[in-house]
Amino acid sequence: MKNTVVTLQQMKEKGEKISMLTAYDYSTAKLEDEAGVNTILVGDSLGNVILGYEDTISVTMEDMIHHGAAVARGAKNALVIIDMPFMSYQTSVYDAVVNAGRLMKEGRAGAVKLEGGAEVCPQIRAIVNAGIPVCAHLGLTPQSINAFGGFKVQGKSEAAARKILEDAKAVQEAGAFALVLEAVPRKLAALITKDLSIPTIGIGAGKECDGQVLVYQDLLGMFSDFTPKFVKRYAEIGDIMKNAFRLYIEEIQNGVFPGEENEYKIDDTIIEKLY
Ligand code: KIV
Repeated sequence: MKNTVVTLQQMKEKGEKISMLTAYDYSTAKLEDEAGVNTILVGDSLGNVILGYEDTISVTMEDMIHHGAAVARGAKNALVIIDMPFMSYQTSVYDAVVNAGRLMKEGRAGAVKLEGGAEVCPQIRAIVNAGIPVCAHLGLTPQSINAFGGFKVQGKSEAAARKILEDAKAVQEAGAFALVLEAVPRKLAALITKDLSIPTIGIGAGKECDGQVLVYQDLLGMFSDFTPKFVKRYAEIGDIMKNAFRLYIEEIQNGVFPGEENEYKIDDTIIEKLY
């Protein structure tokens, strides 16, 4: 059965943990969906892991729609959430609604995600009023990387922790259906999770969050440019891929591939007539 924002809310109420994974293409989304993940995030992390940028700043609406639509085609049961890229919602409430609408109409999202707290509450309110579910994102918000001065844990001082807690309450009040908490101390995330009625999804925020999310290339060992402390490797698919690529190259060089089983046949008498 298709998961919706209501499913996630019910899971929080029943104390069931929510699983979220990123995906950026049809075949990965299909595998994750078949594995039973509750929700798939088409993260703007695609800027890093798919497009090879050093941050998410250059990701466009067209990138998100293109990859989002592919994921939506592969996800039969998981709720698909598509990230709103940098400057697609910060500029105005109008831009936010128009761009969230495009992610739904063209990307076939079930919900959108945007970064920020009190400063983006007018956008959250307007998008929700347009009938589009919004997931908020606080803590280490990668679109503000230049303001943070790097990828650092957030909310360590009393003032910073209080700001994240207040922002969390503000985005809930504005109508967000869930909140991603990235790279914040476990005890702060636990307090926010207890205070909010909407589910929290943690990434580097400890086990008390209502759910967890990871970038799938990180958990499969497919991305080595940068590995944050909060990543757990569940497989070394990168090594498996590299070994398979090496064997393929070797077999081409040795004349082993393609083998007879990979060939198409034709009657010799036809070939003879061509000489
Ligand atoms: O872009 C992304 O993949 C994200 C997750 C890391 C939460 O926002």
